[in-house]
Amino acid sequence: MSGRTVLAAAVAAVVTFSVSITSASAQSRSLYDRLGGYDAILAVVDETIKNVAADRRINRFFAKANIPRLRRQLADQICQGAGGPCIYTGRDMKSAHAGMGIRASHFDALVQDLGKALKKFKVPAREQRELVALLAPTKRDIVTRR
Ligand code: HEM
Repeated sequence: MSGRTVLAAAVAAVVTFSVSITSASAQSRSLYDRLGGYDAILAVVDETIKNVAADRRINRFFAKANIPRLRRQLADQICQGAGGPCIYTGRDMKSAHAGMGIRASHFDALVQDLGKALKKFKVPAREQRELVALLAPTKRDIVTRR
């Protein structure tokens, strides 16, 4: 092989290699990264809280809530669950919602309010599904009334 051919082969190999790492990392990017990081999550949480405040099906539950704390805890919980660099320090879902008498319909209303927020920020369908799937298992601890 001439020097030029060797060089061309080496360049081709490097290009192929870097393309394959790029596509591998695109596939393994955490949900946290794909959502756009902590500030993007906070924006979704803020919009969800706005929707909840206007939602007459559930806003009464939040009348005495500490909203700044809830906002932060919710964002940290989502950040951690989505594989981000956060540690959720709030209560477990059973204790946090004990005695509120939350029904499945209330839970579903909140998830709908979150869905509206995700849509507003044009979060892609796949990430929307993953986020909702991440929170769905909390339903059995949060819903305490039939
Ligand atoms: C996807 C479902 C839900 C998630 C992930 C979630 C998450 C949380 C988190 C992380 C907290 C803060 C806990 C803490 O500060 O230690 C919290 C508190 C609270 N949640 Fe939920 N929640 C959900 C559904 C609901 C529903 C359906 C209601 C009522 C309709 C509700 C009402 C409240 C209230 C009133 C508080 C207490 C705020 C306070 O005491 O200041 N949550 N929730």
